[in-house]
Amino acid sequence: MAGPVRTPQAASSRIFSGIQPSGGLTLGNYLGALKRFVEKQDEGIETIYCLVDMHAITVWQDPAKLRHATREAAAGFIAAGIDPARSILFNQSQVSAHAELGWIFNCVARMGWMSRMTQFKDKAGKNSENVSLGLFAYPALMAADILAYKATHVPVGEDQKQHLELCRDIAIKFNNDYAVDFFPVVEPVIEGAATRVMSLRDGTKKMSKSDPSDQSRINLTDDADEIARKIRKARTDADPLPETLDGLKDRPEARNLVNIYAALAGHTPEQVVSDFAGAQFGTFKPALADLAVARLSPITAEMVRLMRDPGEIDRILGEGADRADAIARPILRDVYEITGMIRSPGRR
Ligand code: TYM
Repeated sequence: MAGPVRTPQAASSRIFSGIQPSGGLTLGNYLGALKRFVEKQDEGIETIYCLVDMHAITVWQDPAKLRHATREAAAGFIAAGIDPARSILFNQSQVSAHAELGWIFNCVARMGWMSRMTQFKDKAGKNSENVSLGLFAYPALMAADILAYKATHVPVGEDQKQHLELCRDIAIKFNNDYAVDFFPVVEPVIEGAATRVMSLRDGTKKMSKSDPSDQSRINLTDDADEIARKIRKARTDADPLPETLDGLKDRPEARNLVNIYAALAGHTPEQVVSDFAGAQFGTFKPALADLAVARLSPITAEMVRLMRDPGEIDRILGEGADRADAIARPILRDVYEITGMIRSPGRR
């Protein structure tokens, strides 16, 4: 009897990453993820980017707002430089392979592994009896997002590192359980000056779209005045900038602003402190605000323009979904074969 057909591993590198379209995109999403997605695309690597709407509903989403946020995030991707002809750009729910493989991975991942996920503990807090089952299972769906394409590299911010380790564990356990060399063990790509952008109000907390204070974050939809105002009001200390990064060790707010400057300018944080050594925040903050406005305003303006034609955005997402499906479906077919599930002749 012939063994299962194996889709070959991706030829070299294949990048997959995703962003939740819940609320708007923040400067953290932009510097930690989206800007890097564009760089990877421009390096000529095969890139697949997904708006993970099925992850978003692990916490309650108003349907009209979710639809709007998904289109707006797609517009943000394109405005930031994702070219839908060179990258595959789509929303997760349009490619059913994610949910199908997600279920199989629910049966591979162990309860103990999932219970150790710090993001679940943070999000559920004291309310863990009352959050959705999806919120708990979510990292298995995230592994499915990646492995449905046998992606090899996943650019993310620092906060997703543990989820990617889980993805590696799931791939290894699947390969072991079924005695196959099928799924690649993915490499997290966590690089650059801004892998963890912090809140503008509290340098020990991550900048997040779910923070109740809008002052804590810069949104990609903020206009130039709002960006400048938020940076001017960002919490800092009273000392001038030091000459070396060592001098920022116990100054999380100052370190955060330096990192943001570095990532926006394409410099290293070392270069930024050496350029601004001895400067007061009265000098540094306006320079940072000018830089942020110069980098972000063209993106915001283009997002607004793209949002005038939601039909075109939906068309682009549909085209991306077709291309994504063409890669994922044969991989999923092999998974069904490996796991012993019958596919009748002539069916997908
Ligand atoms: P999400 O939607 O919370 O964030 C999307 C991306 O933005 C990064 N990010 C940050 N980077 C630096 N500083 C911050 N303050 C900051 N906030 C967010 C995140 O690290 C992430 O890269 N589970 C994922 C989405 C996902 C995914 C995937 C990612 C679903 N499937 C498959 C990669 C591969 C999430 O909730 O990201």
